[in-house]
Amino acid sequence: MTQDNRKPTTTDAGIPVASDEHSLSVGPDGPLVLHDHYLIEQMANFNRERIPERQPHAKGSGAFGHFEATEDVSQYTKAAVFQPGTKTDVLIRFSTVAGERGSPDTWRDPRGFSIKFYTSEGNYDMVGNNTPVFFIRDPMKFQHFIRSQKRRADNNLRDHDMQWDFWTLSPESAHQVTWLMGDRGIPKTWRHMNGYSSHTYMWANAQGEKFWVKYHFKTDQGIECLTQEEADRLAGEDGDYHTRDLYDAIGRGDYPSWTLYMQIMPFADADTYRINPFDLTKVWPHDDYPLIKVGKLQLNRNPTDNHAEIEQAAFEPNNLVPGIGISPDKMLIGRVFSYADAHRARLGVNYKQIPVNAPQAPVHSYSKDGAMRINKVSDPVYAPNSKGGPAADGERYPTDSTWEANGQMVRAPYALRKDDDDYSQANDLINKVMDDAARDRLVNNVVGHVSDGVEEPVLSRVFEYWKNIDAEIGRRIEAGVKANKAG
Ligand code: NDP
Ligand code: HEM
Repeated sequence: MTQDNRKPTTTDAGIPVASDEHSLSVGPDGPLVLHDHYLIEQMANFNRERIPERQPHAKGSGAFGHFEATEDVSQYTKAAVFQPGTKTDVLIRFSTVAGERGSPDTWRDPRGFSIKFYTSEGNYDMVGNNTPVFFIRDPMKFQHFIRSQKRRADNNLRDHDMQWDFWTLSPESAHQVTWLMGDRGIPKTWRHMNGYSSHTYMWANAQGEKFWVKYHFKTDQGIECLTQEEADRLAGEDGDYHTRDLYDAIGRGDYPSWTLYMQIMPFADADTYRINPFDLTKVWPHDDYPLIKVGKLQLNRNPTDNHAEIEQAAFEPNNLVPGIGISPDKMLIGRVFSYADAHRARLGVNYKQIPVNAPQAPVHSYSKDGAMRINKVSDPVYAPNSKGGPAADGERYPTDSTWEANGQMVRAPYALRKDDDDYSQANDLINKVMDDAARDRLVNNVVGHVSDGVEEPVLSRVFEYWKNIDAEIGRRIEAGVKANKAG
C-alpha cells in the first residue's frame, strides 16, 4: 500500500511503477527515453481503447437482472428458462438504431431491446425492438435500409430525402413508419417502453408439439413518450438522457420490470391464417391471438465496466435453446447468420469467452484456438472419437424446431394471402388505436420531418405513400408540408 493506503500502481504485467506523473527523461528538461515502457504502455493502450462500434444499434446501454417464469407454459415449450418457477439471470441492452455511439438517445428511431438469458441449457438471446413490426421483409434490403438512415457519402450528414426515398420505394415500410412517426417513436425512457420479438419464433413442448409464437414484454412502468419538441430539447441538453435514466433508476433501487406475454398460434394455423404469420411488417391482431402471460423480467444491477459488460456484449438471434426455434420469416433467417459474423469482426472469433457473453451452462464444444482464446482445449479435438470426448445426444436434444419446406428455388416476395397488403395495419393503427390528439401529433411529426430536406421527386411519393395509408392523413400531410415550403 502507498502511504495513504491506496494500492500501488502497476504496469499491466503487475510490476509496480515509480510515478503516475513523470516520464523518464535525461535530466529534468531532457528528451524522453524509449525504454520508459510504462509511458509507452499507457500510450499504446490508449490508442487501442476504441473498438469498432456496432454497425446498427451503436448507441446504447444496459443492465443485469433476472427473469422469472411465474406461469405454467410447459404445454407450449420445454425450454428450461420458461418452466414454472425458474429464475434466470439476464443481461439487457437498449439502443437506438441509426445513430453512432455518441449520438443523442432521444432521436426518433426504433429502440433495440436485446435480452441475453443465461439459462441452464446455454445462452438464449431474444434480440428484439420496442416495435412489433419492421420496415422490410427481406434481408436483402436490410443493408440498404440501414445505409439510407445513416449518413450520406458526400457531406457525411443524415438526410431525410434519402430516408423517405427508401421508405416510399418500399411500401412494406408503411406500418413501421406510421408506428415510428407516432407517439411511441420516441419513448420517454427505456423503462417506459415495451419490447417485442417482432418476429415469429417457434416453441416446441416436451412431446414435440410445435407452436408459432411472438414475444411481448410489456413495461410495468407504463408507456410514456416524449414529444418531438421535448426530444429535440433533450438531444441538446442531455444526449445520454436514456442511458442516465436507467443507470440512476437502478442505482436508487427503483428497479424497472416488464411482464412477458406471448401470442401463441397452433402450428397448423399458419397454413390457413388470413395474413402471412411470418411477415415481419405485420402484427397478429390481439383478437386473433390474445396475450398469454409467462413471467416477469426485472433489472436490478448496473454494469461496473460499461465497455467490458455492455460494449462487448454480443447478442445473436441464433442463440436458441431446446424448445425454442426460428420460423420461416426470411428476415429472421438472415439475422441468424448476420450477428455472429458481426461479432467475429467486431470482437474477434473467441468473443463468447468474454465473461459477459460466456454461458452459465458448461461448454463442451469442439471449437479450438483462434486469437485471444482463454478457455483451454483438451484432447480429443475431433469427433467422432473413441477417447471420451463430448458426444452429441440427439435423443435427448432432437432437432425438433423444424418445418416442412419444399419447392423450386426462386427470388420472389412472399406469396400474398387474402388480407396481406402493405397499408391496412398502418391504417388500423391510425384509426383504431390513435385518438384525435395522437393523429394530430402524427401529422405534425411527419410534416416536420418531411419539410426538412425532402425534395422532388421523393416529395410527391411521400404524399402518395400517406394517402395509400389513409386518404385524410395523406391530405393533411401534403397541405402541411406545402404550407411550410411556401412559408
Ligand atoms: P389492439 O387494440 O388489441 O391493440 C392495440 C395495440 O396498440 C396495443 O398493443 C397497444 O399497446 C398499442 N398501441 C397503443 N397506442 C399505440 C401507438 N401510439 N403506437 C403504437 N402502438 C400503440 O389492436 P390490434 O391487435 O388489432 O392491433 C391494431 C394495431 O395496433 C396494429 O395494426 C398495430 O399497428 C398496433 N399494435 C398491435 C400489436 C399487436 O401485437 N397486435 C402490438 C403493438 C401495436 P399497449 O397495450 O402496450 O398500450
Ligand atoms: C444489431 C443485423 C434486423 C434488432 C445488429 C447488428 C447487426 C444487425 C449486424 C450489429 C450487431 C453487433 O455488432 O453487435 C441485422 C440484419 C437484420 C436485422 C441483417 C435483418 C435482416 C433486426 C430486427 C430487429 C433487430 C428485425 C428487431 C426485431 C437489433 C438489435 C441490435 C441489432 C436490438 C442491437 C444488439 C445489441 O444490443 O448489441 N443487427 N439486423 N435487428 N439488431 Fe439487427
